Amino acid sequence: MRVGIIGATGWLGSALGRRLLSRKLIAPEQLVVLGCGSHRFEYYGYAGVTPAIDIPDLVFRSDVVVLAVRPDAWPRLTPRAEGKLVLSFMAGVSARMLARHGGRIARAMPNAAAEFGASLTPWWAADTITSGDRAVIPWLLSAIGASEEIADETGLDPVTEPDRPVGAADQPASANRVGRPRLVRAVSAAS
Ligand SMILES: NC(=O)c1ccc[n+]([C@@H]2O[C@H](COP(=O)([O-])OP(=O)(O)OC[C@H]3O[C@@H](n4cnc5c(N)ncnc54)[C@H](OP(=O)(O)O)[C@@H]3O)[C@@H](O)[C@H]2O)c1
Repeated sequence: MRVGIIGATGWLGSALGRRLLSRKLIAPEQLVVLGCGSHRFEYYGYAGVTPAIDIPDLVFRSDVVVLAVRPDAWPRLTPRAEGKLVLSFMAGVSARMLARHGGRIARAMPNAAAEFGASLTPWWAADTITSGDRAVIPWLLSAIGASEEIADETGLDPVTEPDRPVGAADQPASANRVGRPRLVRAVSAAS
C-alpha cells in the first residue's frame, strides 16, 4: 500500500507521515511525498521515502492520496485521481467539490492530538468507496489515534471547531461543538 501525502511537511501531513513510519505501518518506500527530487531524500530522518516530482507524479505513485493542504490551497491543486482512494483532511471542502477531480472520496477530521497519536478522528466516505477502502481508512488513521466512521458528511463540520465566536475567549474550545457525529461503528483504536 503506497500512501501519497499532499502537504506532507505541514503540521497534520507530517504528523501522519511521521507516525505511519515510526509505527511501521508502512515502509519508507511506501510513503510518497513532494519536494525532494533525490533518492537520497530524508523525510524527518527516514531515508528511502519515495520522491514525487509533482502532484500528478505523486498521484500516479500512490494507492491512497491524502490531501493535507489548507483549503485555500486546494483550488490551485487540481489533481486527477481516477482509480485512487482520496482521503481529505481539508475542513470545509465537500466530497462533491473533491469529486470533480476523480477518485473514491473519503474525508476525515483529526484533531490536535494527532501529533501524539491520540486523535479521535471521525471519518466519512462517499458511496463510491470500496470494501477494501473501508478497511484502509481506519488502518491509515490508526497512525494518529482512534477513528470512527460517521453516517453523514455534515457531521464532520461541528468537530472542526473553526473560528471561536466573538466573546468566547474565556470558554473552552469544546464550547463550540454543536454535537457529536452519529457513530456508524467504532473502527480502530490506537495502540
Ligand atoms: N491543524 C489541525 O489541527 C487540523 C485538524 C483537522 C483538519 N485539518 C486540515 O488539514 C489541512 C492541513 O492543515 P495544517 O494545519 O497541517 O496546515 P499546514 O501546516 O499549513 O500544512 C499545509 C501544507 O500544505 C503544503 N502545500 C500547500 N500547497 C501545496 C501544493 N500545491 N503542493 C504540495 N504541498 C502544498 C504546505 O507547504 P508550504 O508551507 O511549503 O506552502 C504545507 O506544508 C487543512 O486543510 C486543515 O483544514 C487541520
